[in-house]
Amino acid sequence: MKIAVAEINLESLQHNLLVVKRNAPNSKILAMLKANAYGHGTTEIAKSLHQADAFGVARLSEAVALRAAGITKPIVLLEGFFEADELQIISNLGLDTVLHTEQQFDDFMAADIPRSVRVWLKVDTGMHRLGLPPETFPAIREKISRHKNILGEPILMSHFGCADDVTHSLNDYQFSVFEELQNHHKGECSFANSAAILSIKNSHHQWVRPGIMLYGVSPVNNTSASNYELKPVMTLKSSIIAIREVKKGKVLDMVPLGLQKKTRV
Ligand SMILES: Cc1ncc(COP(=O)(O)O)c(C=O)c1O
Repeated sequence: MKIAVAEINLESLQHNLLVVKRNAPNSKILAMLKANAYGHGTTEIAKSLHQADAFGVARLSEAVALRAAGITKPIVLLEGFFEADELQIISNLGLDTVLHTEQQFDDFMAADIPRSVRVWLKVDTGMHRLGLPPETFPAIREKISRHKNILGEPILMSHFGCADDVTHSLNDYQFSVFEELQNHHKGECSFANSAAILSIKNSHHQWVRPGIMLYGVSPVNNTSASNYELKPVMTLKSSIIAIREVKKGKVLDMVPLGLQKKTRV
């Protein structure tokens, strides 16, 4: 019996990256490779995305594996670190880290690390999944900018909660909170995931962060991938083991043997 196979089409992947570039021509691309590149295989996908500017992963182990496989582009830890001592590995491997809690900020400031590290300050503008409270951003940004452990300027980032629904009122709300944060920030910004890349054009800033659209899935409700010229990257193939013909109404006659015996008793 043949096993089911998931075929990955790397040409479609590269095509989808060009769709990102076409939609956000002035932004750098942080390609999302988290969750095993949405199930497509982290290392193979990273090696094919020559035109991405950086990669985003959720776990330190994913970043370590990418460096071991020879990937030299910037890699961003989207959830940051969970233990302060992970900062040694982050620094040694030249990874970027997100800081989304005040504890991470304190640990970062207190760390004794061999090389400075680029930091993405994630602020919760309304999704309420991860992020610093907006009111803490000006002070945190001010303190970290002058610190010896930071490489360059921090990058301000946030994440849309409902960008897949273009009419959702949360989009405008989050957008206005982000605009307010920009008044306290001179450096680069990043806000847009796939849906926002396609439908909230003024949210692109210096970095866009495409995930699902890279893999050929429409990120916007009630639209299909072909609306945006996205091509599916994965095709699941298997073989049929049997085709049975059953007359209409016959299903009820097919009572399992054990049940028939019981009925006779
Ligand atoms: C911080 C962050 N940015 C970008 C993305 C990519 O989102 P999408 O797959 O909707 O493009 C994700 C995915 O959850 C994320 O967590």
